[in-house]
Amino acid sequence: MAIVQFPNGFVWGAATAAFQVEGAYREDGRGLSIWDTFCRTPGKVWEGDNGDVACDMYHRYKDDVKLMKDLGITSYRFSVAWPRIIPDGSGEINPKGIEFYRNLVDELLAHGIEPMLTLYHWDLPQALQDRGGWANRETIDHFLKYVETVFKALDGKVKLWATFNEPWCISFLSNYIGAHAPGLRDLQTAIDVAHNVLVAHGKTVRLFRELGIKGEIGIAPNTEWMEPFSDREEDVEAAWRRRGWLNEWFLRPVMTGQYPEKLVQWFEKLGGKPKIEPGDMELIGSKIDFLGINYYTGGIGRYNPEEGDIFGFQEVPMGWEKTDIGWNIYPQGLYNVLTYIKREFGDIPIYITENGACYNDEPGADGRVRDQRRIEYLKKHVLQVARAIESGVNVKGYYTWSLMDNFEWAYGYSMRFGILYVDYETQQRIKKDSFRWYRKLARNNYIEV
Ligand code: NOJ
Repeated sequence: MAIVQFPNGFVWGAATAAFQVEGAYREDGRGLSIWDTFCRTPGKVWEGDNGDVACDMYHRYKDDVKLMKDLGITSYRFSVAWPRIIPDGSGEINPKGIEFYRNLVDELLAHGIEPMLTLYHWDLPQALQDRGGWANRETIDHFLKYVETVFKALDGKVKLWATFNEPWCISFLSNYIGAHAPGLRDLQTAIDVAHNVLVAHGKTVRLFRELGIKGEIGIAPNTEWMEPFSDREEDVEAAWRRRGWLNEWFLRPVMTGQYPEKLVQWFEKLGGKPKIEPGDMELIGSKIDFLGINYYTGGIGRYNPEEGDIFGFQEVPMGWEKTDIGWNIYPQGLYNVLTYIKREFGDIPIYITENGACYNDEPGADGRVRDQRRIEYLKKHVLQVARAIESGVNVKGYYTWSLMDNFEWAYGYSMRFGILYVDYETQQRIKKDSFRWYRKLARNNYIEV
């Protein structure tokens, strides 16, 4: 048996997001978010599931922090729900909302667990969506007020801050493909949302520096890796565009202050164009301290203008193994993403802010959840992280998605990503086999292969 060692101080963590785990959707003054609305829109979310109760973490966080401690992680990534802090998005601050996150953070710190706080993980106050949401530039100012409140409330306690989770999902998946809240289908709206979110990101970084908030700030985009089916020029270009749409549209402006020119031209052909105001690109390119990378999947595809996506990219089924949500398992893609970032954007410190797998294994007759397939998935991806570090990529930590089964957006509770099994009837948490496997990894800081 060989051992693959991780660098000293490497961070092993686990991640969740407010809407997916908290529940308590009307408690202590929380306002409604676009996801509360979306869940109640027929046909949008599997079986009409919603976040009203979710994993009830709002009430159970103390026990859950004990489980984190037992897991041996040194950091926990969670998000703050804007509608708890400013219920209607732009008006009064709700002290009860702040209190909840202060308590959570204190509890984490008391157990030696570093919080990584995501400021926006998709739960926009509904009142702001009613005024155009992220497509309206005014939302940026409201966001900044919310951010300032959170910064000031938790300065000195939280050292790792992420501005936005998966801006591609916030913009294109939610406003062009329509699969996530608010469920719109308009390319220009999606491009506007993407741009305004990027500007909000840049302004948040500026504010962080101006206020002298302690710690580090970054962003957590989703990434995928696409390879062309053949080396025909049009396949190569289509794969590049698809990758570009997912990765470059956000990474390049954040890292260099410029949109990728080739994609700007494609969008123009499709009738869409970012509305850039003077100073925007400079703001968007404000220096960040780390990049968060969410990675799950990738694939192989070719150019097919009739049946492909908006860039003419069509995936070719390769017969690869898939997780229960139907996503290709492509560990090498994670290595490719990490080395591509280093090549294109230099030596920025990177945290894998999410990586994990959906497997819907249930407890056996003896109560044990034997999720061997998740262990295999995690092992393969963690080894690619080790390979990337070996190649000189500055990866500082890894957060598995997710600490526990939770509300998987449009799939409701039908898809389980947790290393803790959640019985949604009783709210009992059961440690899956993967929990024990991950505990060993977090404690050893090496992996046996
Ligand atoms: C990305 C998102 O950030 C998270 O909310 C989601 O549950 C996982 N991926 C799995 O789809």
